[in-house]
Amino acid sequence: MSGPERITLAMTGASGAQYGLRLLDCLVREDREVHFLISKAAQLVLATETDVTLPAKPQAMQAFLTEYTGASAGQVRVYGKEDWMAPAASGSGAPGAMVVVPCSTGTLSAIATGACNNLIERAADVTLKERRQLILVPREAPYSTLHLENMLKLSQIGAVIVPASPGFYHQPQTIDDLVDFVVARILNLLDIPQDMLPRWGEYHVGNDE
Ligand SMILES: Cc1cc2nc3c(=O)[nH]c(=O)nc-3n(C[C@H](O)[C@H](O)[C@H](O)COP(=O)(O)O)c2cc1C
Repeated sequence: MSGPERITLAMTGASGAQYGLRLLDCLVREDREVHFLISKAAQLVLATETDVTLPAKPQAMQAFLTEYTGASAGQVRVYGKEDWMAPAASGSGAPGAMVVVPCSTGTLSAIATGACNNLIERAADVTLKERRQLILVPREAPYSTLHLENMLKLSQIGAVIVPASPGFYHQPQTIDDLVDFVVARILNLLDIPQDMLPRWGEYHVGNDE
């Protein structure tokens, strides 16, 4: 199996909840164990942007997401915002990689300062201190200097910033195609197989000039 077997997936309150849901779906299909964290704001965004309303309590949310994605029992694990005993809260138990998608500018700032005020922030801090892969997918427009400084700082200490800005060279026909563009980029970075988006060069039909 290429890529990490266990992944922390955190959804925060930036627009683009579909990216997080689609990534969860892909990770489940690729037989990964997903430690799922979601902020209160992200639950509101999710209810605003999609037809999905998650149950509030972690246990009920886990049952819901297991059924929603068709995951096997225990494959999707949901932890609450102050569950400091969760595997992701410590270097000895944390999954091999973490993705925050979508990543709000608030959570971006908290990760950049090492705030650790909730499990999402702590899990990101652990991922950085353990020198594991941390992928952040921010969305805001325009970005302030503060947002850009936080992204620069995080990039310099090893996080990968993947802006939620799909390309159009694959000629998207639907919103799902746009969502898949960003999710495919995340999966490529994680070295997890995906067939949603050909790699660059595979579009090339040849030009002998
Ligand atoms: C519908 C909706 C859309 C939002 N879109 C964004 C956004 O695109 N980017 C962002 O950084 N914050 C956005 N926000 C604001 C964040 O949700 C808010 O700053 C929140 O405190 C973030 O908390 P969290 O980081 O704990 O999820 C949005 C809020 C709502 C309700």
